[in-house]
Amino acid sequence: MQTPDIGRPPVDRRHDRVVEGVVAHGDKRGRLLGFPTANIAGDSVILEDGVWAGTVQVDPQGDGRVYVAAISLGSRPTYYAQDGVRLIEAFLLDFDEQIYGRRVRVQFIHRLRPQWGFEDSSHLVRQLRRDVADVEAWARQQGSRAVRSCPLQVPSYSWVAARTQLPVGYLRHRYPSLEQLRDAGSPSAASGPPGAG
Ligand SMILES: Cc1cc2nc3c(=O)[nH]c(=O)nc-3n(C[C@H](O)[C@H](O)[C@H](O)COP(=O)(O)O)c2cc1C
Repeated sequence: MQTPDIGRPPVDRRHDRVVEGVVAHGDKRGRLLGFPTANIAGDSVILEDGVWAGTVQVDPQGDGRVYVAAISLGSRPTYYAQDGVRLIEAFLLDFDEQIYGRRVRVQFIHRLRPQWGFEDSSHLVRQLRRDVADVEAWARQQGSRAVRSCPLQVPSYSWVAARTQLPVGYLRHRYPSLEQLRDAGSPSAASGPPGAG
């Protein structure tokens, strides 16, 4: 008798898209360009180089806040030839803090484009503005009221719990995904929508 073919077990690839690390000092060029980034090592990432829309959670071990981000994965061909170090550089939208030495969890969600070598910094900056606009449009397209009413922040369970006085366990059970949690937020609620600052 033949063993029935039950196929391969499903492979959960979500972990491939999530990288954690401690924010390191970069070349400090980002702030000059007007796009300061949180940099972490990208050598072990198995995703394709490029510019991605995604999220960054600051202090994930403390269930910290999650921000929408424009994320560069690659070795900055504008400034380095073959010898460039492969880096994750995340520009967090609606965020202006120094987070060197802090732990972040980066989630790559939607790839926007490849890494390009630009003629000079001004051409790169022009593209960075477009990237950020694309990421904003992407975040709005997610269709959540919270993203629309407070464009650039995504709530965490503990954040909503602290503001609604509802237990985290209940929120996780009632809204199994962050998308559902966001969609549950009502801009007219007294405590404000999930994601509002
Ligand atoms: C959204 C985004 C897109 C980027 N795209 C490119 C790119 O296409 N080519 C490139 O050479 N560098 C790209 N970079 C990396 C920048 O060159 C880098 O952030 C900048 O030089 C600052 O580097 P620093 O953080 O080490 O100071 C990108 C960065 C961001 C945040």
